[in-house]
Amino acid sequence: METTTMNSFKEKFATDVDQGLSSNPKTLPSRYFYDARGDKLFQDIMRMPEYYLTDCEYEILNLQKNDILQAVQKDRKFNLVELGAGDGYKTKLLLQHFLEQGVDFEYFPVDISHDVLLELENSLKKQFPTLKVTPLNYEYFEALERLNDLDHSPKVILFLGSNIGNFSPERAHSFFAKLNHTMQAGDALLSGIDLKKDPRTILMAYNDPTGITKAFNMNLLHRMNRELGANFVVENFDHYPTYDPFTGEARSYLMSTVDQEVYIATLDKTFSFAHSEPVHTEISRKYSLNEINELASQAGFNVQKHFTDSKGYFVDTLWRK
Ligand SMILES: C[S@@+](CC[C@H](N)C(=O)[O-])C[C@H]1O[C@@H](n2cnc3c(N)ncnc32)[C@H](O)[C@@H]1O
Repeated sequence: METTTMNSFKEKFATDVDQGLSSNPKTLPSRYFYDARGDKLFQDIMRMPEYYLTDCEYEILNLQKNDILQAVQKDRKFNLVELGAGDGYKTKLLLQHFLEQGVDFEYFPVDISHDVLLELENSLKKQFPTLKVTPLNYEYFEALERLNDLDHSPKVILFLGSNIGNFSPERAHSFFAKLNHTMQAGDALLSGIDLKKDPRTILMAYNDPTGITKAFNMNLLHRMNRELGANFVVENFDHYPTYDPFTGEARSYLMSTVDQEVYIATLDKTFSFAHSEPVHTEISRKYSLNEINELASQAGFNVQKHFTDSKGYFVDTLWRK
């Protein structure tokens, strides 16, 4: 596996935490949710009945895999690049179908989590022994740069699971524009995006009664304790999710339940948290189809097709450069 070094990862983690906790209001980047425990918790979230996103996207890929193949089909060999591949649960539907149809492609799963990529690599070896796989353990753009240095085959990029929802609208726009820059004319991008719907349905997905999303959010505190020598008392924080139907933003916060100070050894710094002070940890933005069309054209893409589920909750939208 091509991988980023542990030291540079830890340095970046420490710098990001320092920046986020020194700002006002305080924030922490959601990408650090995904260590070994976070990966496992996210897999539990994907299986919760309240987290409709996985079932909807699974249905789209399962029922429309052949339409998707017809739409992206290339007469030449292509690289299937997946940004934030996770455990590949849904992608395996496409991989299996592409292999069965004798499509000439190589698979490049990209993920910042070393653990999840290793698990994916092992499960792919067992399930699809003939599949050519090169896991890239980097951030999205670092991985794309490496890939462009390695191989100039046409690309089909997958960005599933509504990962784009984790960006603000400005970052989503610049992300797609930057992505467009790394692609060649004719390359395709299939993005899974969660659609605006009944606000109660959305809020429940981030506030399940069994507390799995809470454990996922709180895992950031455990991770800073473990990896950065912080002394967060986890019981002094609570999980607070919100959804605003005007902006389409579901937000998760870690709320300090007391006045407290926390020391982070790697930074040799103490941070103060007031009673009821929120730390913003995650945004999961929902879009309308019109907003998605606008996002595509502003970033220089042509929308080829929207694949939606039977409830109209979720879309996998196919764009061309
Ligand atoms: C919400 S999960 C989705 C996984 C999968 N795409 C799915 O639909 O089930 C997000 C995945 O993206 C990875 N990830 C998050 N931010 C990343 C980044 N900046 N660069 C690379 N991977 C990232 C995480 O480690 C995690 O495995």
